[in-house]
Amino acid sequence: MAGGELTLLSAMKKYIAMEKHSFHTPGHKAGRAFDRQFRNVIKNDLFSFDITATPFVDSIHDPSGPLLETARRISELYDVKKSFLLVNGSTTGNLAAFISLFRDGDSVLISRNSHKSVIGACILSGVYPVWMNPRVLKNGITCEVNSEQVDRYLSSFPEVKGVFVTSPTYHGIITDLEDIAKVCRKHKKILIVDEAWGPHLFFSEDKTLSAVNYADCVIHSFHKILPVFSQGSVMHICSHNINIEAVEKAVSILTTTSPFYPMLMTLDYCSMMMKRKGPKLVEKMLALGNLAISDIRKMSLGYAMDSSDLPEGYRMDTSKVTIDFRDRGLTGFFLQKHLMKSGIGIDCANPLNVIATLGLGNTKADISALLTALKNLPQKRPIKFTGFRFPETPAEIVLTPREVYTRYQKKKMPLTESEGQICAETIAPYPPGIPVLLPGERITAEVIEYLEMIDRFKWSVFRSGKKTKNKLESISVIEV
Ligand SMILES: Cc1ncc(COP(=O)(O)O)c(C=O)c1O
Repeated sequence: MAGGELTLLSAMKKYIAMEKHSFHTPGHKAGRAFDRQFRNVIKNDLFSFDITATPFVDSIHDPSGPLLETARRISELYDVKKSFLLVNGSTTGNLAAFISLFRDGDSVLISRNSHKSVIGACILSGVYPVWMNPRVLKNGITCEVNSEQVDRYLSSFPEVKGVFVTSPTYHGIITDLEDIAKVCRKHKKILIVDEAWGPHLFFSEDKTLSAVNYADCVIHSFHKILPVFSQGSVMHICSHNINIEAVEKAVSILTTTSPFYPMLMTLDYCSMMMKRKGPKLVEKMLALGNLAISDIRKMSLGYAMDSSDLPEGYRMDTSKVTIDFRDRGLTGFFLQKHLMKSGIGIDCANPLNVIATLGLGNTKADISALLTALKNLPQKRPIKFTGFRFPETPAEIVLTPREVYTRYQKKKMPLTESEGQICAETIAPYPPGIPVLLPGERITAEVIEYLEMIDRFKWSVFRSGKKTKNKLESISVIEV
């Protein structure tokens, strides 16, 4: 084919032949969340639907026809002022929020476990990040900051222009958004919520779970959970505190002029489907997640996080099932391999656990397959999770991420010799996934000691967005 072996094609074929049950994004799960009619339309005409932005259809940059109608339908569905269709994921939403709502040099209060796109947003916008440290639970999972912490930070940093938090987290932890919003109103700050993992929450029986009710601006990765092709996402403007025109410009700057129309077609489809039966579909998905969680908790030495593990005020999005068999001596990496042997693909593995993320395309059969595979897990010697002392001293920010990126040369040097240098990369050991170093921060002896400890445990480390299991021998610093 094409005069030779297509390497990605053969890798993809091998993968899809292996995987029978998807517990990762996208949420349509090999098309199962679409009805048969729409699936057939896409299947039969995918090539023909990949068109240019022609006036005969509509353009995402200045929509006046069907795309305007889709965005309007979505804004009506979520009862917000305006919704923007995003074609490069929530990543675009986070970037657009920062460059439109803040000016170069503004301070913004940001939770330190934010997605890596937020560092990109700091670089593009030039904001000065004031980091809030989320707590880490006994199970090693990071819990988003709550209203009490936001209030404390806002009292200490009255100059900040806005607050950025993530809810639900990758592990499904929902913070006390209503109270965070009250705190933001008290301090007269805008609230942006990265709800990439929770576009379904607005349709759940308990509507109060969704940030859309409280925040000024909310970003949703529809594709992660709902029946939408990868990348299809939405940015909602929920209050009058946001300059809609500025957001519109920012989204346009960051958006390709050649969007993939089949993906836009799925956003249209999704808006209709959620209008018709959103609550029913979401309740079914959350119930399936609940079933998986409670059954795993009943397994010998098995554990899946549920709301009883969360501090007061937090709630669980049960479409995320965090599975942990450390007490049987099994790491998340082992679980990932074991599950794949039974045709089960999960979203993320780390030394402590795996995350199985449900989407609207998941069925009872998927849950049964997952539970059966877990029942067949072997028993090894328990792994002692000795815990860790996350560096406690707040990082000294010497340069903003934008200054690091745009003004300085970088060099690599041995980690052990880097005390006092200014870090030029992001280093986030997982667990708990909170960066210990961000671009522009001073490297301290305490951080070096922590990273050496991480190395001894062979935990994964995210470095400027890349996951690596290599030894952390060198570090990128600013050349002075
Ligand atoms: C919390 C959070 N925000 C934003 C994103 C980026 O979303 P997308 O992949 O849709 O660009 C992710 C990706 O996983 C995420 O976990």
